[in-house]
Amino acid sequence: MTPTNAKKVFIKTYGCQMNVYDSDRMADALAPHGYEPTTDVAVADLVVLNTCHIREKASEKVFSEIGRLKELRAERRANGEDFLIGVAGCVAQAEGEEIARRAPAVDLIFGPQAYHRLPDLLARTGGGTVVDTDFPEEDKFAHLPAPAKEVTVARGLTAFLTVQEGCDKFCSFCVVPYTRGAETSRPVEQVLAEARGLAEAGVREITLLGQNVNAYHGLDAAGSPIGLGELCHRLAAIPGIARLRYTTSHPLDMGDDLIAAHRDLDTLMPYLHLPVQSGSDRILRAMNRRHSRAQYLDIIGRIRAARPDMALSGDFIVGFPGETEADFADTLSIVREVGYASAFTFKYSTRPGTPGAALGDQVPEPVKVERLARLNELVVRQTRDFAAACVGRTFDVLLEKRGRNPGQLGGRSPYLQAVHLDGPERLIGTIAKVEIVATGNNSLAGRLASAAVPA
Ligand code: 5AD
Ligand code: SF4
Repeated sequence: MTPTNAKKVFIKTYGCQMNVYDSDRMADALAPHGYEPTTDVAVADLVVLNTCHIREKASEKVFSEIGRLKELRAERRANGEDFLIGVAGCVAQAEGEEIARRAPAVDLIFGPQAYHRLPDLLARTGGGTVVDTDFPEEDKFAHLPAPAKEVTVARGLTAFLTVQEGCDKFCSFCVVPYTRGAETSRPVEQVLAEARGLAEAGVREITLLGQNVNAYHGLDAAGSPIGLGELCHRLAAIPGIARLRYTTSHPLDMGDDLIAAHRDLDTLMPYLHLPVQSGSDRILRAMNRRHSRAQYLDIIGRIRAARPDMALSGDFIVGFPGETEADFADTLSIVREVGYASAFTFKYSTRPGTPGAALGDQVPEPVKVERLARLNELVVRQTRDFAAACVGRTFDVLLEKRGRNPGQLGGRSPYLQAVHLDGPERLIGTIAKVEIVATGNNSLAGRLASAAVPA
């Protein structure tokens, strides 16, 4: 299949899981044009930086990486070799023109909605920077080729699948509505076909992706919109698909049907990422989150009533403009009240073009640093307590790979914790009952429950 004179593409991924998925799809789009992926930039003919714009630091990394690549490009070109630099992703979308101006060594700049056009864009390089940051009419996904089965097999037993993209919520801190555009859902049949392809290649667990994934409302074959709960039911019916997850969700889109799916579908893992960002009603309003603290807690209560073993993870921003010590205390108290299995914490980062950037009353950096440290202390303790409470429990563990030591296997608990245990290699790809015996650094140690080892 692969041409012997294959060119090599090195793709570096920053940011969220959707970028991880997109990087694979770019590789898939390039494969029929003779490019194979490499993890060694020194042998690459094409480098693609798949960038993230969510916080200032993420964006800055891109410009320093371009600086390094520019030198490599000059060296390679001096040797008469081809070496193209591409910048994709959300920084490309938001700052495409600026990149072209600041870094003329970049050969192509293209946004998330242009990945299916990548082969055409490559054909146009050679005379100045090629820029494509349009939001095209055509459906990108309908034009992106599916990977060969052996490529999916090599990617492992778990896979991402984007079902929804973009966001219409316009939280006042967030660039996503500008970089990923308006909210769109992929048609149901397209999603099911992709999932079937994954299952046929041995994938057992799919994580559905979307910037606002629980707002999913794709059209089914009859042209009727269906929600994420119903989509999960249809995906769970595909032979081989044993586990489903989805991320990231907005509290207001936790509809009754989705909550009911958590009650009715064992395939849907009892682990939900449901960011609240702040525990203060005043700050939630300023963030344009469109829900109060009490509403969030009510939603959590209904989810836990439907699925008592549900664990939660969240995102929190400290130091949003105007945040007082009392507001921050409300954030600490909502964390205590909910009890998270894990949490991601961020200092507010001013993003150009967002409403938050125009607000006065920015919180001084040292205050943000101090609040972040206090919040981190609390969430680290909660994460540790959650892991400790797993000891003695028996979990279904998806056995994914060989472990670090001979005779060892590595897998994932329903709560996405890495679990290592002794066991025969033939169990890889199965879901086994594993008793958790100890916690380690970011992982759990387990042993196969006796019934889990078929003769
Ligand atoms: N500053 C800090 N954190 C942010 N996030 C999004 N935008 C910003 C910003 N401007 C965080 C939110 C979001 C997560 C993906 O990143 O917590 O849920
Ligand atoms: Fe970063 Fe958001 Fe773009 Fe993902 S969608 S890469 S988090 S800016």
